[in-house]
Amino acid sequence: MRIPTRRSRRAYSRIPRLLGLCLALAAGAGQAASSAGLPRIVTQDGRHALMVDGAPFLVLGGQAHNSSNYPAALPKVWAAIKDAHANTLEIPVAWEQIEPKEGQFDFSWVDTLVAQARQNKVRLVLLWFGTWKNTGPAYTPAWVKLDNRRFPRMIDKDGKTSYCLSPFGEATLVADRKAFVALMAHLKKIDADQRTVIMVQVENEVGTYGVARDYAPRAQAAFAQPVPPEVLARQKPAQPAKAAATGMAGGSWAEVYGDYAEQYFHTWAIARYIEEVAKAGRAVYDLPMFVNNSLREPGPLPAAPWKSDFASGGPTYDVIDIYKAAAPHIDFAAPDIYLPESRKVGATLESFQRADNPLMVPEMGNAAGYARYLYQILGRGALGVAPFGIDYASYSNYPLGAKFTDRRMVEPFATVYGVFAPMGRAWARWAFEGRTRGVAEGDDRKPQTVALDGWTATVSFREFQFGEREYLKDKNEYAAGTETPNGGVAFAQLGPDEFVLVGQQARIKFSGSGANGARPSMFVRVEEGRFDGDGKWVMERNWNGDQTDYGLNLPATPTVLKVKMGTYTP
Ligand code: DGJ
Repeated sequence: MRIPTRRSRRAYSRIPRLLGLCLALAAGAGQAASSAGLPRIVTQDGRHALMVDGAPFLVLGGQAHNSSNYPAALPKVWAAIKDAHANTLEIPVAWEQIEPKEGQFDFSWVDTLVAQARQNKVRLVLLWFGTWKNTGPAYTPAWVKLDNRRFPRMIDKDGKTSYCLSPFGEATLVADRKAFVALMAHLKKIDADQRTVIMVQVENEVGTYGVARDYAPRAQAAFAQPVPPEVLARQKPAQPAKAAATGMAGGSWAEVYGDYAEQYFHTWAIARYIEEVAKAGRAVYDLPMFVNNSLREPGPLPAAPWKSDFASGGPTYDVIDIYKAAAPHIDFAAPDIYLPESRKVGATLESFQRADNPLMVPEMGNAAGYARYLYQILGRGALGVAPFGIDYASYSNYPLGAKFTDRRMVEPFATVYGVFAPMGRAWARWAFEGRTRGVAEGDDRKPQTVALDGWTATVSFREFQFGEREYLKDKNEYAAGTETPNGGVAFAQLGPDEFVLVGQQARIKFSGSGANGARPSMFVRVEEGRFDGDGKWVMERNWNGDQTDYGLNLPATPTVLKVKMGTYTP
């Protein structure tokens, strides 16, 4: 991802053209009239935007607790979403609640939810809890859960029955697909004109713990078949030497993928199942759809073969290509981030953000330490983010998330969303144009550099606002409130020397790069302000003197600056 280069300065004046293109794409030129204007994901130059009502939209989301999918639970959800300044609620629609009796659908939950979302001026991302929720069948209706003959569970190597429903259960697929199609048809009926629902997650954290794949006869037969060509074309063997000897140009799963065969096969089986559900749903109502992932430890590729250390078959970073091959109606695979370490967060974002896979973080811990990652995620140009448990349901999922279940839990995210919310549309457009960058303070507390076009920003943490570290008698003295990492900055480059900065608990210094590197540089103007409800810049004061002599020292409260840099002849 590159900010338009100085050589292509004209890029800055291309904004209207790009926007025009967005609008044309959003309008769905050449598409069926019924789908015109629906939310959709557009891609250009390897970057992505979620188009909502014809323009890029930034999801500043919050996910409700799992059992908040009933009208009685909603008041506590809306209260938290409002306090968070979130513009989108992610919330489940469970198969068990819409089809408690086979063939009899009840959409009263969906109707209440959509109506209240509109009253609260919030968009919805619906989470389809169907065959798999955190890999298990807990959200399937009782008539599915209790009928293992018709809806078979997986069988392990020793012939033991697993808890997880098999992706080879034909009747399961037919039934899940039918319920999902009914949901999408209902959404079309109640929401196609207002588009309160902007995306749908198909199933939730799929895969299987403890068993690499299904060993039942149907699965065994499929495992012996050649790897489908579309998978072969995308998912390269992790052990090329072994594969070259046997199945590089094709062959069975074991021949091509060796020690990885069982995980890859199970991944394909689940992805294929999800594709059937998503494709049928989109045929009736074409909303963007995605899958979420319970992460395996991030690391470089090739990742080690599965050894019961993560859910086999889920869209982990190492098998995104299998999902791309087997599930083309899924727009992206997304990471659920419950790994608090900054190195792991960085590696995860890196591996899920691809030219063929928009970055979106549909779940993230709601403990305060995660709030700084909002800057990194939004700065990277993600479609959006949603901490999990933005909901006053008096339930804490500590140690994954916060201990608090009240306003104290929402606050660290609310302050950041509060400044992004009024410029969400602009930020999403800048991200689509490749103008944004972002950093979060690392666990090592070390300074980080950000390469911008013609400039390098150095972001340091734990600084006092005035002076340099060498002025301190005690070199181990640090600013109050920086005991744990909580700094972050997001940048948007609006022109050759112009930036919008949003951040907290960080010091930013600029130095020229490229042609600017040869000349001394200075701040021409640093305005502190905010974007108003219409996304217009409102200047509140001009930073100068002490406020710029030692870099731009952003306080603990998220602050927005408009910065103009310049150089002079030495
Ligand atoms: C990830 C799942 O996707 C969520 O539904 C929830 O169970 C969290 N884990 C844990 O709170």
